[in-house]
This record gives sequence, C-alpha cells and structure tokens, in this order.
Amino acid sequence: MLENFKLIRSFCSKNRSFSFVTTPIFYVNAAPHIGHLYSAVIADAIHRFNGLLNEPTSPSTTIFSTGTDEHGTKIQQAAASHSVPVATYCQQISDQYRGLFKNFNTAHTRFIRTTDQDHAVAVQSFWKALDATGNIYSTQYAGWYCIPDETFLTETQLKENDQGVKVSADSGHPVEWTEERNFMFRLSHYQDDVLHWIKGCEDRVVPTKFQKILLDFLQEPLPDISISRPKARVSWGIEVPSDPSQSVYVWLDALVNYLTVAGYPNKEFRQNWPPTVQVLGKDILKFHGIYWPAFLIAAGLEPPGQLLVHSHWTVDNQKMSKSKFNVIDPNERAIRYTNEGIRYFLLREGVAHSDGNYSDTKIVRILNAELADTLGNLLSRCCGKVLNPGAVVPAVDHASLEALLALEVTQKMLDLLNELPDKVRLHYQQYNFHLVVDCVVHLLHATNNFFETTAPWKCKGPDGKPQLETILALTMEVLRHTGIILQPIVPLLSGQLLDKLNVADRCRLWRDLEVKFNQEERPLANLNAVLFRRIVLPKPETVPEPRTKKVKRKN
Ligand code: ME8
Ligand code: MG
Repeated sequence: MLENFKLIRSFCSKNRSFSFVTTPIFYVNAAPHIGHLYSAVIADAIHRFNGLLNEPTSPSTTIFSTGTDEHGTKIQQAAASHSVPVATYCQQISDQYRGLFKNFNTAHTRFIRTTDQDHAVAVQSFWKALDATGNIYSTQYAGWYCIPDETFLTETQLKENDQGVKVSADSGHPVEWTEERNFMFRLSHYQDDVLHWIKGCEDRVVPTKFQKILLDFLQEPLPDISISRPKARVSWGIEVPSDPSQSVYVWLDALVNYLTVAGYPNKEFRQNWPPTVQVLGKDILKFHGIYWPAFLIAAGLEPPGQLLVHSHWTVDNQKMSKSKFNVIDPNERAIRYTNEGIRYFLLREGVAHSDGNYSDTKIVRILNAELADTLGNLLSRCCGKVLNPGAVVPAVDHASLEALLALEVTQKMLDLLNELPDKVRLHYQQYNFHLVVDCVVHLLHATNNFFETTAPWKCKGPDGKPQLETILALTMEVLRHTGIILQPIVPLLSGQLLDKLNVADRCRLWRDLEVKFNQEERPLANLNAVLFRRIVLPKPETVPEPRTKKVKRKN
C-alpha cells in the first residue's frame, strides 16, 4: 500500500561502487542449455565490468548470485520420472549448473540452492513479515494450475491448442483444474505501488519494450495470488510457518533467494539491499516485474534498482526443446569452440530486445573471422620471431612516430583508439555487449590496415629498426586496450593477451585505458602467442553407398 511505500528510501539511491547483480535461479528439472548460460554470462559481464570501474583501494561490496530453484511439483515429478529420490535428483542437476558456470568462468560470489538451510530461514522470515503486515489471508481456491510454469492462470490467460487442450496462452504449456485451500497474497493492493516503482526511474526495466509490456499488464486490475499449496499435493517445499499442512508457493520461495544472498533476515542485509540489476529472461518478466516488487513493498523493503530482461535463443529459428532434439549443450559445444569462444559468441551475437538464433555455421564464422584472424593474428605477428626477434614490447622512437602520425592510416587508428573507452563504457552501461565488440573489432580492422600499410617487414636493418619498433609498439598499445576492454566478455582470453604483453595485474582497470606511447622497452612474457586457433570443422562424413549384393547369375 502507498503508506508502506513511503517507508522506502528514494529509488535509484545506491552509489556506483556498489554492485549486486543476480541471475534467475534455474529449475533442476533438466540439464542446463545455452539459454541458461546466456543469462549467467550477461550477469558475469556486468559484474566484471563494474569491477573494472572500481579503484582497487576503494572499499566496495559486490555480490553476484546465481543458483538453482529446487522445490515444487515440477521438480517432484521430474525426480519421480527418473525414479531417483528428489533430494538426490536436485543435487545431481544442481551440480551440473555449478559445473557449467565453473567451466565458463563466471565469477559469482554465491551459488544459492533453494534447499540451502539459510534460504529456508529467509523464506519463513519473509512470510512472517508479509503476514505481520496483514498481506496474507486463507481461502478455498479453485483455478487452473500450469505445472511447467508453476503458476495459476486466469481464464483470460488460457487458450485451446490445436488438439483442443487448454493451455497457457503465454507458454503453450498444459494446465489442470485444482481446488484446494490456499494462502493468498493481497497483490491487488499494490497496483499503484508497482506502477510507481516502474515509472520511478527512466531505465527501471530495460529494454523499454519489456517495460511497456509490464505497463500494459498493469492496465488491468491485479488479482490476489495464491502463495501456498497443500503439503499433501506439494510435499517438496518450505513449510508455511503458521500452518505445517501448507508449503510455500515455489515462486515466492524462489524470488526470496535474492534476499537470502544479501543476508536476510540478518541486520547486515540492509547494507546490501536492493540488487542493482537483476538479469532475467522474458519468460519470467511478470514474476520479477509485478509479483517481486509487490512482495518487497508489502514487506517494507526496497524493490530492485533495475531489471535487465533478455529475449530467447532459438535453434534454426525454433524454440529449444527436448522433444525437438535441438537443445544446445554448452559443454558439448565447448569441445569444438572452447568455453571462451562460446562466451564471445553469446555476448557478441545476442541482443536483449529480440530473439537470437544459434547456428553452428555462424559461430564458426564469427570466431574464425574475429578471434582467430583479426585479433589472434595481429598478436602473433607482433610477437613472432620474424618481426620481433627480441620478444619485447618495444619503446616508440620519436622521429618514426612523427613520420607515422603523418599517415592517414595511423590517424584513423589512433582516433578510434582515443575515442574507444568512452564509447564502450556507455555500451557496457547500457548492456549492449555486441556494440562493445563491434567497436573493438572496428579498431582491430583499422589496426590491421595500419599494419599492412606501414609494412613493418619492409623496415630492414639498423636503419629500419626504429620504425619497425614504433609500428609494433603502436599495435601492441591497441592490443593492450583490447585486452582490458574485453575482460568482462572473455576474461581468460583477455587475461592471456594481457599476460603475453606483460601488463601487471594492477594495471588492467578502466583507468588504465589512456593511450600511452611506450617509453621503455619491456620483455614479452614467455607464453604462447596463439590466442585462438582457427576452427576447422571435419568435412561432413561422406555416406558410403549402400552395398548392393552382387547376385551371381546362374546361367
Ligand atoms: O523460470 N534463451 O527457471 P528456468 C535465453 N526457476 N535464456 C533462456 C532460454 C532461452 N532459450 N531458456 C531459459 C525459472 N533461459 C525459475 C526462475 S528466479 C527467482 C526463478 C534462461 O530453469 C532465462 O534467464 O525455467 C529464463 O528466464 C530462465 O533461463 C528460466 O529458467
Ligand atoms: Mg522455464
């Protein structure tokens, strides 16, 4: 209610050095795929970028959470269908998520499971907070329940599919009629508050198309929603504190995970609250954009600073689904393309506002053209024995620099380099990772052009050496910038690049992005300079002609 709302500090209040980024917590009903990884690498890139902006000496709190959503009917049924005890089943799939994020090097500070002990405490405390403020009542409830989406749906949210079966209009998943006693949350009281929260900040929900969807949704009066299920039906859940015969509704349970990671209900949690940005897919917009802020406001807590909603990955323009055998397993693809290659592809090709299509042809083309031929090749040419027998980052020679600066190719490259930090900073802040990469690749093309035009291999003998070294020094300066800027996107690859150039760990921050004409030669690290090997796909197997039996003719 509006009175509650006034208790809340003005929104958008956090200072910049605080960073609290979240991903959804993923259901453990099936193995992870590239869609889940996509949310995690987006959140990881945001978190890493925030880290680059911080001065290393400034005290800062950063939280980056991800994890698994393990309660509810859907999980109960999935475990039963595999004939595995539900706790064992959850552990197995949760471990797959944990392993996936480790392989793809996400730097989360907490991997939360809704079966964690501190989470049960948080959920029950949160329930009590809602109850104490008069937001919960009990009723006999009847309605359509959609198990795959774990939600009750109203008549207007249903349709009939081609087979004449009632399904969710949104997801197409089947629903079943349910009549039971439930606890309800007074969502209907929070219509104005949620609207006020959404409108309270220009970029509360980005991209704006998703903000519009929420505002449209709020045109209709919000109904109260069920927030518990009888334990007899849903035994795998957290108990309602005031009524052991009921389990907490799995979405309330799941959303509270963000409070758990902040330390709720311990007092210190207020220092960490609210999250600065929450990353989620468009499929769960309503839960995060309506229910979640309403729950928080009702409990007297501040709703999140921002929601970053992304669209979906399709495969050959079709929804990924087990029944279509088109689910892309990131671990399996990483054998061919490397983990960093897949991170690069997802953030380079994905845009939040519309669905992206995964294709093996496209990933190979992009990785070969950009990571192998444009970036990798430039590094190996600069570091290779032919041009750089001393294996150094050379110092610039001033006379040669002056001569090179007179060339258009040099000017073009340096102009791009000088304007790069401000441009890409804005792209990062607007979560346009594809534009970050665009700018970097554009600069690398200009640098390859500079390299080709100035042709350092033609600078022969002692007379040519100063010019050769100046060309290498300028190119390596571009590579140093590239390494710093790409850290949030491909942290290992960038680290390898910066290691090779012998850039100290403490000199890899945003503030280090000033163009420096290297004054003092330093050795290159004695490391492999091959950043990314071209991917050569095996030729499609030639199908042997079916053997035809030679039938001997009996003459
Ligand atoms: O909804 N493309 O979990 P979930 C891009 N447990 N992202 C995708 C995707 C795709 N094709 N498929 C899934 C749940 N995702 C709840 C969330 S949060 C408190 C509880 C990503 O396993 C995307 O982030 O169904 C989407 O919102 C999420 O996985 C859904 O994962
Ligand atoms: Mg889902």
